Formats: sequence, structure tokens, C-alpha cells
Amino acid sequence: MTAISKRCAGMQASPIRKLVPLANAAKAQGTTVYHLNIGQPDIPTPDGYWSALKDSLPEVLAYGPSQGLPVLREAISTYYSRSDIPIDADEIIITTGGSEAVFFAFMTTCDHGDEVICFEPFYTNYNGFATMAGVKLVPVTSSVENGFHLPEAVEIESKITDKTKAILICSPNNPTGTVFSPGELQTLSSIVQKHDLFLLSDEVYRDFIFDGGSHLSTLELPEIEDRVVVMDSISKRFSSCGARLGNMISRNKSVMAAALKLGQARLCPPTMAQYGAAWIYHNLADNYYKDVLATYQSRRDLLMEELSDVEGVFFLKPEGAFYATIKLPVKNADKFASWMLTDFQLDGETTMVAPAAGFYATPGLGLDQIRIAFVLSEEKMRKSLCILKEGLKVYKETVE
Ligand SMILES: Cc1ncc(COP(=O)(O)O)c(C=O)c1O
Repeated sequence: MTAISKRCAGMQASPIRKLVPLANAAKAQGTTVYHLNIGQPDIPTPDGYWSALKDSLPEVLAYGPSQGLPVLREAISTYYSRSDIPIDADEIIITTGGSEAVFFAFMTTCDHGDEVICFEPFYTNYNGFATMAGVKLVPVTSSVENGFHLPEAVEIESKITDKTKAILICSPNNPTGTVFSPGELQTLSSIVQKHDLFLLSDEVYRDFIFDGGSHLSTLELPEIEDRVVVMDSISKRFSSCGARLGNMISRNKSVMAAALKLGQARLCPPTMAQYGAAWIYHNLADNYYKDVLATYQSRRDLLMEELSDVEGVFFLKPEGAFYATIKLPVKNADKFASWMLTDFQLDGETTMVAPAAGFYATPGLGLDQIRIAFVLSEEKMRKSLCILKEGLKVYKETVE
């Protein structure tokens, strides 16, 4: 039998989902599994989304324009203008999830064999899209000790070669919850100007900034407006993961013209969902954002309360998004996370977390870390974290 492509054979399996068979086996035996492993928000999708879909039911569910429906691109432009960020509808292309925006960002800015610098730990699906685009991700390691903030500029610059085309960032960050400060963005701005690079900026969590902070978008850095490509999504911010809608934004006309060609090749993003998304961008009241943010922030506080004093556990307070990457007092968090599913339960319940090593590109890093997504109700969070703490104690006593 002829072999599958080397491209796919070499692709990483998702570290977020790789323990799913163990979780399924635990569930089949009647164990309740709390999912702290995956960033699937539990907050209801806004009601208006559904009404907008019903109000737009067409006779024929037709293709739409490759760059997305004008009504949605206008709505996104209006959404940005509310934050004093002028974006023209022509500078936006609607994509099939933020995922396709990541792919388009690589494809429009890089050729096969080009390098993109990114900060590990990073959102693992960047690996898959980099493979698809033939791009090599070059990691710069950030550290749990300083809350995964930007390493020194010299360290970043030391990774730049004549193949480097871009720096990729994600702020607020998945998997760490880190939010880059204006000073950090300034450092990146200087580097991309000095070395003639693009700045690819994943801002899918832009509305989730805790403790009264606000988000500085890379679209607000006029000196690099031609170099910035933003990736965005309605999945997390509006609890609409299944709509499969995101967008890519750039003021660089050549980048947008190239993105349109990619868009034409895949015809169009999902038509119906765009009507719902347009409603969301136009009409979502300020209190929606406030309420959702307050919900995630109290869960973040609960996480700190439950875990920060546990011996050997270390992480700094996440500043945004809904994730924390946490150092545990274990040698191999992968084994620990699997053991929680196969060998441990408290009153018929257990907790699933994502081992963090898969979020690093450098082999051997993050082995003692896990990622937690705080996407469960406070009651479930408290229970699942108590189970995790108890599991950790038993694991330390009996396994390691
Ligand atoms: C940082 C980041 N970027 C992009 C995505 C892709 O989101 P989607 O394709 O659902 O819009 C995700 C999803 O988890 C993410 O966490």
C-alpha cells in the first residue's frame, strides 16, 4: 500500500485532544469527567444570533462573496470604530474560523521554507497550519517565572535569519493568559521594522482582559500598519465556536489581494452564520461584554484561590483570555494527566487537563506543566480543582 504524505505523517496530533480516548473510557465506566482541557466556552451564544439567522432564511442557501458578506464586513468595521480603530471593510476578509485566518496569514506572507518566529508555549494548531503552508516555526522560549512575558529583544533577534518573514504573537494568549503590554508591542514593532518583517497578530481573545485593563491592538501601531496582519474569530468572544467564522485584517493592500485569491479558491465562508455574526458585531450591548468578562474573571480568581498556595504549584495570575499554564510538582505532566483519567476518581468524578509539553516546539520543555481552560461554572470549577489537588497528592504519594 502506498504511503500517505510525509507532510501529514509528520504532523503533530492535538495535545488538547490526545487524551480523549482515555476520557471516553473513563466515561464509559460511569465516571464524570470535568473538562478543563479544552477552550470550549459554556456561556450561551447571544440570543440575537439565532433570531438573526431565522430572519435571514433564504430560499436557496447560496454561495456568498469570497471576501465575506458586505453586511458582516461593515459590522466588523463599525465594531473597531467603537474602539477608535479605523478599519475599512476592504481591509477585512471573512474566514472559516480564526483557523483559516491563521492559514491565510501564513500563506499570504510566507513562501515554502520561510521561517516565522513565535513564542512558546503557543497555540498548537499553529503547527498544523505552518505545516500546510510549508512554513517553519522558530520558537523563542518564554518562561512561567515571569508570566510568559516577552523575552529580551536580543534573544528574539538572535533567531532571525535570512529566511525569517514574520513574528507571530497571540495576546491575550492561549495557552498562558498573558497579555503583552504596550511596551512589549513597541519592542516587537521596532524589531519588525529593523528586520523588515511582518507581524502576525492573533487577537481572538481581544475582549477578554482582566482587572480593568484594555487591549492594545497591533492595528493601533501606525508605524507598522503595512506589516500587521490580524487574525480574529467570533468563536470564543461570542461563544460561537460552531459558527466557524473569523476574519483576517490588514491595511497592506498586497496582502489583502493575495488573501482574496485564497478566498476565491475555497469559494466562500459559511453564508448563514455571517448574518448571525453581523447581528453580534452591530448589536451586542456593552453589558454582554462586561458580564462575560466578569464571569471569566471570577473563574480566574477562583483558580488562583484554589491552586496558587498548593506546594510545588506555580503560575502567575492570567491577565486575559481564559487559560493558565501551570507548573506542577511532577516530572511528567502527560503521565499525570493520563493517570487522572485511568486511575483516579473522587466520588465517581475526575478532572481532565491538557499536558503543556505539546504547546512547546522545543522537545523536553513544559514537561512539568499543564494548561487549564477556565470554561466551567464556578461550582464545577471548584469541584474539578479539588479533584485535581487531591489527585496530585495521591499521585505524588503513590506514583512518583
Ligand atoms: C489562539 C487561537 N487562535 C485561533 C483559534 C481558532 O479559532 P476558531 O477557528 O474556532 O475561530 C483558537 C481556538 O482555540 C485559538 O485559541
